[in-house]
Amino acid sequence: MNEKRASYADLKDELLLTREQIAVRVKEMGAQITRDFQGKDLVVICILKGAVTFFVDLIREIDLPMSMDFMAISSYGSATKSSGVVRILKDLDKPINGKDVLIVEDIVDSGMTLSFLRENLLSRGAASLHIATLLDKPDRRRVQLHVDYFGFLIPDEFVVGYGLDYDEKYRNLPDIGVLKPEIYEK
Ligand code: IMP
Ligand code: MG
Repeated sequence: MNEKRASYADLKDELLLTREQIAVRVKEMGAQITRDFQGKDLVVICILKGAVTFFVDLIREIDLPMSMDFMAISSYGSATKSSGVVRILKDLDKPINGKDVLIVEDIVDSGMTLSFLRENLLSRGAASLHIATLLDKPDRRRVQLHVDYFGFLIPDEFVVGYGLDYDEKYRNLPDIGVLKPEIYEK
């Protein structure tokens, strides 16, 4: 039985994904990526901040030589919806031309953030570009986007925990839950 922290009071009772379910899936994704990137010049890019927790778990399940880099972006919009207008807050440290790039993201919602990133990184001369996301809300897609690796398809509800935030809170929760609407409808 997992302990529940005080902030779980802001979540709907039933967790969407427990830490155990997440760990099992992340292991499978790491094994798949390990098979697919044999012999490649892999650089894994973490999209800050939401993907941080997923990223540190995923890279430890990838049994290949790799380098890592970090990018921070912000997309304008209301707290629970992205506008697709993306601003780079922190860019990569190293060039990626000729590299096989794997972008690691927490969640794909409208798809606008990742379609911007995809074009942006391809324009820098990456040899290949793949996307791994822990969560995918396919019902909310507004642009076409090919996701190569996803952990879980989830319904159209606002979720927090395991890196995902509302107003910068809840990122440190070890499980993923649905935020009670009264928290953001206030
Ligand atoms: P997109 O551009 O609409 O695909 O937005 C993706 C970004 O919106 C993610 O990287 C998250 O930061 C944020 N986001 C979308 N849905 C959720 C959610 O349910 N919880 C927390 N953040 C979310
Ligand atoms: Mg994010």
